[in-house]
Amino acid sequence: MKKVMLVFGTRPEAIKMAPLIKELARRKTFDVKVCVTAQHRQMLDQVMEIFDIDSDHDINIMKQGQTLTDITERVLKGLESIIKEEKPDVLLVHGDTTTTMAGALAAYYNSTPVGHVEAGLRTYNKYSPYPEEVNRQIVGSIADYHFAPTELSKSNLLAERKDQNSNIYVTGNTAIDAMKYTVSDDYTNEVIDWVSDSKMILLTTHRRENLGEPMRHIFRAVKEIVGRHDDVKFVFPVHLNPLVRQLAEEELQGIDQIKMIEPLGVTDFHNFMSRSKIILSDSGGVQEEAPSLGKPVLVLRDTTERPEGIEAGTLVMVGTDKDRIVEEVDKLLSDEDYYSSFKDAKNPYGDGTASMQIADILEKVL
Ligand code: UD1
Ligand code: UDP
Repeated sequence: MKKVMLVFGTRPEAIKMAPLIKELARRKTFDVKVCVTAQHRQMLDQVMEIFDIDSDHDINIMKQGQTLTDITERVLKGLESIIKEEKPDVLLVHGDTTTTMAGALAAYYNSTPVGHVEAGLRTYNKYSPYPEEVNRQIVGSIADYHFAPTELSKSNLLAERKDQNSNIYVTGNTAIDAMKYTVSDDYTNEVIDWVSDSKMILLTTHRRENLGEPMRHIFRAVKEIVGRHDDVKFVFPVHLNPLVRQLAEEELQGIDQIKMIEPLGVTDFHNFMSRSKIILSDSGGVQEEAPSLGKPVLVLRDTTERPEGIEAGTLVMVGTDKDRIVEEVDKLLSDEDYYSSFKDAKNPYGDGTASMQIADILEKVL
């Protein structure tokens, strides 16, 4: 039986690896090992609990105010003995976090083949998103198997000649698979009750390049929007990064139409998305999930590695300029035809079978 080891450490990696872990385990043709770095502690554990996944190894690296060097060093050192002990036939990493990059590097240094789930996303701007663009390019150089979510991500890898030494497959994104487990029509929650008949705008922000002034501009836009629209309520699950929390408290505390809450479990979050009127976010994963729900996402970034969503008509890149954000929200709230155009967008990230496709491929190639 071939041994597949999955290594991940943050909330989004866990959400998108969960359906794959379940699919690999269901088949009984693989020996599946789960290794978490716990680059995120609470936000990772929240996902593990919801999907009922236990780890075989936990290197528990998170510390407050961790630097990129801290994470890289602790993941590399922590993984070495585990890889030597487990000797997996393939080590799978997901996306573009520093756990992903250091996980792939640790595998390579120990001569272990690497599979990259969510491969080939690019902005080709090494500071946006930072450090994710360089993280995923490094993993792209190391990986033996690239599981690209779309034809566009495959074409990025082909342009980099990755097909010379490795294999590229288009599988869709496992984010869409995860939604099969979460969204339900009869969902209720007290925060949704608080929103009541108002229009809910869901906000998330955490990107390193937005910390500081850009995030302050986002929050000032939020304040202006509630000042202009008394039928709108903002729900803001605040990321556990202390730098995000401090800014959010400084700018948004004590405003009636804004509710700041702890990070939501993914089941709650997806159901909140499905009940939102508009979503404002600098998240990567949210950009992939929103098209499935027909919700407009205003992307609070200057670049996106997910242009498929813009082309499909569900994402609008607004950056972090206050006036631009306010203008776009005004338009969505006042122009019904414009708003409706977001509902019919087709999800470019697959049909929810990415995990099955990846498992099929692994059965063939290992
Ligand atoms: C990380 C990823 C980013 C991803 C994001 C998803 C890197 C460099 N960044 O960014 O690509 O989009 O996760 O959310 O890999 N914290 C807690 N508890 C938690 C999680 C975070 O207390 O469960 C706090 C800690 O103080 C930690 C800080 O948040 O030091 C920052 O976490 P970190 O993983 O370094 O960066 P993120 O901004 O979360
Ligand atoms: N998410 C969640 N709870 C929240 C906010 C987001 O479960 O309070 C989910 C969201 O549905 C998506 C993922 O977390 O699947 C995105 O994570 P994040 O924005 O932290 O990271 P990114 O995708 O930007 O790397």
